[in-house]
Amino acid sequence: MKILFATSEIYPFVKTGGLADVCGALPPVLHQLGAEVRLFLPGYDAILKNLKHPCQIAKYNGIGTIQDARILFGILEHPDGHFPPTPCYVFDSPQLFAARHPYIDEHGRDWPDNHIRFGAFCHAAANLIHYDPMWQADLIHGHDWQCGLIPLYSQRLASPPAGEIPKFLFTIHNIAYQGLFDNWHMAGLGLSWDDFTPTGLEFFDRISFLKAGINYADFITTVSPTYAREICETDLGCGLQGVFQDRRDHLCGILNGIDTQVWNPAHDPYIAKNYSFETITKKIDNRKSLIKEFDLRIPTDRPLFGIISRLTPQKGFDLVLKITPQLIAEKCALIVLGNGDKDLESGFLALQEQFPHQVKIINAYNEIFAHKIHAGADCILMPSRMEPCGLVQLYAMRYGTPPLVRDTGGLADSVEAYQGDDNNSSITATGFKFYRDDAADLLQSCQSVIQSFAVPKVWKTLCINAMRADFSWDISARAYLDLYKKLIG
Ligand code: ADP
Ligand code: GLC
Repeated sequence: MKILFATSEIYPFVKTGGLADVCGALPPVLHQLGAEVRLFLPGYDAILKNLKHPCQIAKYNGIGTIQDARILFGILEHPDGHFPPTPCYVFDSPQLFAARHPYIDEHGRDWPDNHIRFGAFCHAAANLIHYDPMWQADLIHGHDWQCGLIPLYSQRLASPPAGEIPKFLFTIHNIAYQGLFDNWHMAGLGLSWDDFTPTGLEFFDRISFLKAGINYADFITTVSPTYAREICETDLGCGLQGVFQDRRDHLCGILNGIDTQVWNPAHDPYIAKNYSFETITKKIDNRKSLIKEFDLRIPTDRPLFGIISRLTPQKGFDLVLKITPQLIAEKCALIVLGNGDKDLESGFLALQEQFPHQVKIINAYNEIFAHKIHAGADCILMPSRMEPCGLVQLYAMRYGTPPLVRDTGGLADSVEAYQGDDNNSSITATGFKFYRDDAADLLQSCQSVIQSFAVPKVWKTLCINAMRADFSWDISARAYLDLYKKLIG
């Protein structure tokens, strides 16, 4: 079974969020399970730098007026062994990808040529059938709006192949990002107005890459079963509910897994003290180290809350801003690693100024601090308004740090909520949940964390349950494999 795995992000080379983690971890597991996987990636600097034995297999003269674009083939490898050597096609275009953030400029605005950057990327992926006739994919697995036009270009190839065109599986990681562009770009993208329809790629008179992916894919997955339901039935479908309902028979949710090597407290090189669930008492050294490093003052019987996230309204951190003074009154502390939305950043900065020994914000993107906080915090907060899957709560559980989450999407599917049962032996919970998008509900749930933390036997059980939960990729990768088989027939 030959699978072309197309993505605009891949850990550890190019990452803005969880998409990269998934696309870095899943292909090697699929390979172990017997699929022949090749990657298809944009030619970002970090990709080209780590592509071993690159050779040009074709020049790209598809859509747009792009100079010197070509298709390379090589082996993608990471010097630290973070990534197993994997065959990889690269859409190399210095004009579109060199020395650039994947999506936004230095002012946080979308690149004005994003439609052509990812349009040409999709077009090149669809045309691989011509560029490399020796390796014909049975199925292309594309991710998010950046891959949304692949199935349309595949179905409208200028010179269709003699055999079958590859099937297309579209995985949506976040419906809030849709790849919307003005309709005057249709011609530049080499698209026909015949496809500019509500059952094609038209969305409120604009071009929607995401909608194209939904309508033209052979099958669609999202990253958790609950999110798959929510996007059909609630406004989390972001206006596409009807489109999802029409395709409901071709849609399912598969919960993400995690890379248990990269996220492993027993061998993590970035944390103060390694531990497993058998030696969980050593976790406290990580808390002490974090407290010292950030000069926090917090009594031993009070929880240290942590946040590791992109700061966007999606994640619900405005609720945390509202309740932080009450957490401080309870003598708790909060450490935030994140950047993004300016209002959220300045909200946390103001709290830090007001409570310098109880609130710290690391206003940056930093992988090492992410590991330290997972190990050193007592509870990770994820009050998301919507969360297609969420990986941070899975990493938190792996580190024995029970997460407090809102009951939505993958958070609902991955965390079992503590119900306040003091009978130690019957506790199966792995974290805490609140239900309404409401600061008072979040506060109530934080109070339940504070109370449970004060009962060491209960807390230890929660931590161990969280650590024992299995979120390795094995199960989900098999679900993808079954789907590939079904689609390929
Ligand atoms: P999303 O993809 O919506 O951002 P996920 O929970 O799926 O949410 O994945 C987020 C990923 O990005 C995780 O790997 C998390 O550790 C990482 N991350 C987010 N913000 C930061 C940050 N400021 N520093 C380091 N890692 C971060
Ligand atoms: C998206 C979602 C997140 C999910 C990640 C990986 O960025 O916001 O919930 O975990 O993709 O699938």
